[in-house]
Amino acid sequence: MGFQQGFLWGGAVAANQLEGAWNEGGKGLSVADVATYKPNVDVKEYKKHVEVSLEKIKEAMVDKDTTYYPKRRGIDFYHKYKEDLALFAEMGFKVLRVSIAWSRLYPTGEELTPNQEGVKYYKEMFKEMKRLGIEPLVTLSHYEMPLELALKYNGWNDRRVIDMFVRFSKTCFEEFGEYAKLWLTFNEVDSVIRHPFTTAGIIPELCDGDEIKCCYQALHHQFVAAAIVTKMCHEIIPGSKMGCMLTKLMTYPRTCAPEDVLATQDKNLDNNFYADVMVFGEYPRLKTVQLKNAGYYPKMEEGDLQILKEGTVDFLSFSYYMTMTESVDPNAERTPGNTVLGVKNPYLESSDWGWQIDPIGLRISLIELYDRYRIPLFIVENGIGAKDVVEEDGSIHDPYRIDYFKAHFKEMKKAVDAGVELMGYTSWAPIDLISASTSQITKRYGFIYVDQDDLGNGSQERKRKDSFYWYKKVIETNGEDL
Ligand code: BG6
Repeated sequence: MGFQQGFLWGGAVAANQLEGAWNEGGKGLSVADVATYKPNVDVKEYKKHVEVSLEKIKEAMVDKDTTYYPKRRGIDFYHKYKEDLALFAEMGFKVLRVSIAWSRLYPTGEELTPNQEGVKYYKEMFKEMKRLGIEPLVTLSHYEMPLELALKYNGWNDRRVIDMFVRFSKTCFEEFGEYAKLWLTFNEVDSVIRHPFTTAGIIPELCDGDEIKCCYQALHHQFVAAAIVTKMCHEIIPGSKMGCMLTKLMTYPRTCAPEDVLATQDKNLDNNFYADVMVFGEYPRLKTVQLKNAGYYPKMEEGDLQILKEGTVDFLSFSYYMTMTESVDPNAERTPGNTVLGVKNPYLESSDWGWQIDPIGLRISLIELYDRYRIPLFIVENGIGAKDVVEEDGSIHDPYRIDYFKAHFKEMKKAVDAGVELMGYTSWAPIDLISASTSQITKRYGFIYVDQDDLGNGSQERKRKDSFYWYKKVIETNGEDL
């Protein structure tokens, strides 16, 4: 059978990780602009390393340097987007997942009308994509909320942020709806629990001693906002489709001891919870009981449950990088993954950053998600962070990256052949950009190399890696020639 005709092959990026131009075009500060370079982030204490304190934020706000704030400079996509889009078009991209920096349209989040320079920038970008025949898949919120909302409202913990997000989304639909029919609300909506500041602008000191409670409240506000704007998107843009976006964190039991299986079940149920709310339009009963017992069930307003019911998504998108195992044995060897720490799986190899490579896990995830939700799926992030070497003649040989993608595509194809409805696939990331967790660029994901080091030195010249030509061929043959 193979991939359907018109399968959406492409790549995924996020504004805060590649645009740069942090203080140009009327843009306000976002939470990403105060994220510092952390090459040695220890996932065992991920929150401690990645999250910030009020004091650190204030220090960062007066510091105008970009050296140790790599997300401020990105890879200068803001000025180079035409060159980069041309390279994506050369690979034959059908789709490009981009995000809109909220603070480029609403610098503090509180304005009543958008910053026209920001609107113009994105409009030009979408026009260029249209000219090149690349369809946008647009994420409304990808780790880049206006910093002012974090400081003044403790981010999404405050219900008033819903209205501000709805205003921003409405602007996006009205201004860019002519170009974009495919949308996503919150990137990895489940990640608020793992990194509350990055995802939802939550500052620990403003949480009255209970950060987790704040997180679940913020999450509820994001669910409500997502449901409102899903409905609105359908009303404003004819033929549009809205998806939710989940970090697919598949966990296997380390052994068949019932205790390990039970602990694993708990992890997987938690991972499903977020998509359950957005696909089924209601909080699952088991999670409701669990949150109530723990005192974390969020405050709701009358009508919230109805809003959730009326704003369910058209498709489910997810990121997939690695899998984990779980064990109740406290001495079981642990290994990092995508902002999580799990138990090592002896059957899997790991990336240079310790993330366990598991192509079959992608097939398992696709089958499990499709069987549970029965709506089309979209893989909107998948890839491997690696250290690349530029040869003397300027070439970059990255067989490890080709191997990673090839193995994942084979499994993806098997899932499709088994009957999974898959709309498309966007690799993370088609071009080297700034890492979300460590702010490195030397953790390279791209098919396109960017001559820039972690501290911003380099010509920023773009170079095609071996994987560039390989992915081009994959797209040309609609996944037949791997
Ligand atoms: C995903 C995020 O979780 O993982 C991306 O949505 C991120 O923003 C990607 O870049 C890879 O993680 P990292 O930390 O290696 O950049």
